[in-house]
Amino acid sequence: MKKYYFAYEDRYKQVHNEGLLWFSDKPTPELLEWVEFNCISTGSDICEIGCGERRDALYLSRKGFNITAVDASESAIIKCKEIAAKKDLKVNWIVADALFLDRYLKKKYKWVYSIATLHMLVNDEDRHMFLDSIYKILEPGGKALLVSMRNGVGERKTDINIAFELQERNHMATGKEVLVAGTSYRSINWASHKKEIEKAGFIIEKAISTENDEYGNCMTVYLIKK
Ligand SMILES: C[S@@+](CC[C@H](N)C(=O)[O-])C[C@H]1O[C@@H](n2cnc3c(N)ncnc32)[C@H](O)[C@@H]1O
Repeated sequence: MKKYYFAYEDRYKQVHNEGLLWFSDKPTPELLEWVEFNCISTGSDICEIGCGERRDALYLSRKGFNITAVDASESAIIKCKEIAAKKDLKVNWIVADALFLDRYLKKKYKWVYSIATLHMLVNDEDRHMFLDSIYKILEPGGKALLVSMRNGVGERKTDINIAFELQERNHMATGKEVLVAGTSYRSINWASHKKEIEKAGFIIEKAISTENDEYGNCMTVYLIKK
């Protein structure tokens, strides 16, 4: 049986068939602040987990960083490659399940970030595997940034059994009504989020509530591998 968190593959296929992209091309402000906070120099290797349709990976590549970008969706990665080729930008694009990153990545990273991907994982076990998987691909002392949707107050989750079912959704950039896979989603409160992060072995360097145009309220955490 297909894992519920692969439902984005269907959504991308549906949207790309309409000649649209699901996400904007704007980089995530929280990511730019994290890069600046850590004074990450251009030319550094950075790994993105759940890169979607390229927006952050290509932005950083254009700025001179050496990006490896992973997503479980083959359609997303095909789209990323297409857009990157048109702009003559190089990124190491990889189709991989983020719960098993060490099976796909040959090296360890000092810098890893993931935008709006953990919140797609509903089950505790999947969330733990995701965090543990990022921990494993970091160098000792390496740092990670996670940005997850919602404000950390209250908890909500979708039914994973209907992640592939079609729903009518509003396409943000055009306002067009489109029929797409519902996908999955879990919002978690701050106390539970900190607990799951610490369970995976990370030190929390910073935990802040942020807001951006793509996702609204977000929980943003800066993590360090012990
Ligand atoms: C909400 S989208 C965010 C995409 C991108 N980070 C952005 O903000 O534009 C979540 C992404 O996570 C990917 N994803 C979900 N589960 C995954 C997994 N287990 N392994 C790798 N990617 C996954 C989806 O395919 C999707 O592209």
